[in-house]
Amino acid sequence: MGQAEGLAPVKRRVLDLYPCQGGAARGYQNAGAVVFGVDIEPQPRYCGEGFCVADAIDFVRRNVDWIREAFHFVHASPPCQFDSDCQRIMKNDHPDLIGPTREALELTGLPYVIENVRGAIPKLRDPVELCGTMFGLRTYRHRYFETGGWTLTPPAHPKHTAPQAKMGRAPKPGEFISPVGNFSGVQLVREDWNVPWMNRDGIREAIPPAYAEYIGRQFLAQAAADAA
Ligand SMILES: C[S@@+](CC[C@H](N)C(=O)[O-])C[C@H]1O[C@@H](n2cnc3c(N)ncnc32)[C@H](O)[C@@H]1O
Repeated sequence: MGQAEGLAPVKRRVLDLYPCQGGAARGYQNAGAVVFGVDIEPQPRYCGEGFCVADAIDFVRRNVDWIREAFHFVHASPPCQFDSDCQRIMKNDHPDLIGPTREALELTGLPYVIENVRGAIPKLRDPVELCGTMFGLRTYRHRYFETGGWTLTPPAHPKHTAPQAKMGRAPKPGEFISPVGNFSGVQLVREDWNVPWMNRDGIREAIPPAYAEYIGRQFLAQAAADAA
């Protein structure tokens, strides 16, 4: 009997820290993983297979051995509410969670990605930029990804040629959206990103699943090559 006959393929397991409604989670699911989220707030819309309410860093520190055994990969999206104002806000007593998150992840020894916004670039190590245009989306959204224990190579970045819809106005045909703040066009983004369960609050915080699917597939390809 061949190895795979009669057996379900082994699913990769991703620990999803700071998951909100699950933009990243859905991407890893699309790449073939099961996903467990840890958020400080209840997230009834979260789309992962498992979920726990806890402080993410505290959760990792308390469960290092279990995490090392139970998961293959960790995704972390520590919050930074206002893109370019990130650093100013942090000076106003918002905690800097990137460094402590990295320290906690390094305790596990697992490969990881830490995602954040442009304002956090100085805090990230050699971040890789991803944008909606790389995945054929009608969304301009730059996000930055630090990797630990593996290497992420981005796709080509097409020029931003489509006009961007004005903030608060319904997008006209052919316009792209930047879904921040009180943006208009929630249904359009739901369709563009394929996130029908998300509301405006979740979309505002999320990465499009296409980003995490790309990350997940690239990580799996490297893991398979390393194991061969
Ligand atoms: C930027 S959102 C994450 C978006 C998500 N990666 C996605 O793609 O949909 C940040 C999330 O971190 C959560 N959060 C904030 N502080 C936290 C903490 N100390 N521990 C765990 N979660 C936290 C917030 O409730 C929020 O849901």
